[in-house]
Amino acid sequence: MLFRGWEAAVDGPWPDVATVVDGVGGTHLVVTRHALVRQVLADPVTWRPDNALDAVTPIPVAALRVLTGHRFRLPPTLANNAGPSHPEIRAIVAEALHPDRVAAQRPWLTALVRTRVAGIAAELAAGRPVDLHARLAADLPLLALARLVELPDAPVGAVKNFARAALELFWAPLDADRQQALAAEVGRFHAVLREFAGAGGGLAARLRGAGHSPDVVVGALFFLLVAGQETTSQFLTLLLHRLTGEPEVRAGLRAGTVAVADVVEEGLRLEPPIVTWRRVAATDTTLGGTPVPAGSSMLLWLARAGRDPEVVAEPAGFRPGQRGSRRHLAFGAGAHRCVGAQLARLEAAVVVAEAAPLLDAVTVVRPPWCPDNLTFRMPDAFVVRRTSRDTVADTPAGEGA
Ligand code: HEM
Repeated sequence: MLFRGWEAAVDGPWPDVATVVDGVGGTHLVVTRHALVRQVLADPVTWRPDNALDAVTPIPVAALRVLTGHRFRLPPTLANNAGPSHPEIRAIVAEALHPDRVAAQRPWLTALVRTRVAGIAAELAAGRPVDLHARLAADLPLLALARLVELPDAPVGAVKNFARAALELFWAPLDADRQQALAAEVGRFHAVLREFAGAGGGLAARLRGAGHSPDVVVGALFFLLVAGQETTSQFLTLLLHRLTGEPEVRAGLRAGTVAVADVVEEGLRLEPPIVTWRRVAATDTTLGGTPVPAGSSMLLWLARAGRDPEVVAEPAGFRPGQRGSRRHLAFGAGAHRCVGAQLARLEAAVVVAEAAPLLDAVTVVRPPWCPDNLTFRMPDAFVVRRTSRDTVADTPAGEGA
């Protein structure tokens, strides 16, 4: 899903590179082919990441005042950092998320998910509807992140509200009143982060120890709290919803003929929580034969790249293990490729392995609803109830990319 209404922005089939004006006045070059998206991601000199966190709807003075009142600053740290500090900051974060440390979380996470699934099964059996987003997706990634990276001691609900407010403030089409309210929410939590950045242990202490300024520590924590848990929460919900409409895949999981890891990759290809990601052209150049003036906002349509027929055998079908399934760009590519990919994969694998059997006997009461947002899917809920004994759930999957 691009911004609502964008599907109609281009007359006929999408060209490889299309110029589109968004609803708030910005012009973007939308890149639709896998090879071109990859080419841009792989070359951070020609295509800089500086605009990755720019607000899509320019933030008006009144909301900016609210942010500065909380001493909000977002210097280049990770995703939007093209400078020489990027590799060092990235290495410190990557160490905290090392594959061995991530793998060590599996027993804890499996036990937690198993307990929750048992509770959900009992409620479904009693005939009650259950919101799988709230029960299996919303908080698990944050709990996992907190075990790997020391985080401010804030209630889960407060972190989730802050993260979702940040995704809306920076990536949604907004009016001034909403911006003001979101700026207050984001600013409040930013102040908590600032305090923690100065005194917290773990990752914050390591970044401070490496000589990074408090602004950099806050920026890294800010991005991790948003990118490092909200994205995976969204993905878990989108994947569970998709699997509800894929009875053959679930049968394969049951029979052991379909691998959980292949289901996760096919899910990332077809239901990526991050639909687009931005870069900015550093010089006058061309992309796939299209002239690109310096300063152009490049909107890389990651979700569409995952469905490129040049890469994947059956682009629209959920076929775990099919040719090209793993070549999706859901985690980006190149110097800024997602450092949390291993963690996200582990979380999704555990949830699929433990929760897929639940989906064999449910009907969707309320599919996930996704608000208008340039980049993030942000599903809000996913409610199911038990299907009567003689029917098996086969609900059509929701809105695709
Ligand atoms: C399904 C879940 C996730 C998806 C789809 C996802 C996707 C992405 C994408 C598209 C980027 C930009 C890559 C680029 O510019 O080439 C990114 C960057 C990043 N992600 Fe993730 N991510 C996920 C989960 C996570 C998790 C669990 C963490 C950490 C706990 C994380 C931490 C980061 C960081 C730190 C960056 C910036 C890397 C850099 O600029 O060097 N992400 N992610």
